[in-house]
Amino acid sequence: MRRAWVLAPLALWTAMSVAGCGGGGNAAPSGGSSGDASSASGSAAGVLPAGLDQGPRAGASAIDASQIEPGEHLFQTKGCSACHGFGKRVSCPDLLGVTKRRTAQWMENQILHPEIMTKHDPISHQLFAQYSLQMPNQGLTPEQAHQVIEFLKHKDHEAGEGH
Ligand code: HEC
Repeated sequence: MRRAWVLAPLALWTAMSVAGCGGGGNAAPSGGSSGDASSASGSAAGVLPAGLDQGPRAGASAIDASQIEPGEHLFQTKGCSACHGFGKRVSCPDLLGVTKRRTAQWMENQILHPEIMTKHDPISHQLFAQYSLQMPNQGLTPEQAHQVIEFLKHKDHEAGEGH
């Protein structure tokens, strides 16, 4: 009985994530963060650090090998893999080569505050327009975001994309 209560919302959430990816509909779980995002839009300049996309791409920096495994684990367990693939064109951005396209700081903000990025960052906004889907905030800590980014750098390095 109790167990059914726990599992039902989880199953629903999973179904929504997957459907959201394929359908391109308006299925983004907004949660409680929409209030934050709209109140933040009044002071857009202070919402995101300046120059997120400036400087060397993430893949140009050395990989912290100790973070790859925890990063991969988070990628699988925090829902990322339901939407994103590597070298596969699904209906969310292909993450192969992403560390060649973006800076670490930009990706960190996309992972930690996707709902703010699509509103206030020009690149993220463009992706949002292209995929017609809001990436949900998966509740990672800054340290976890860093671990995932090291995993992404590793994937690109393996594929000869980074460097
Ligand atoms: C419901 C599907 C979904 C989930 C879950 C999701 N994303 Fe995304 N992600 C997107 C979409 C869609 C975009 C494009 C921006 C937008 O529209 O919000 C995106 C953009 C990105 C980008 C930038 C891609 C590029 O080409 O620059 C990165 C990096 C990223 N996501 C990483 C992650 C990570 C890491 C996780 C897990 C913590 C995650 N995403 C979870 C859908 C998702």
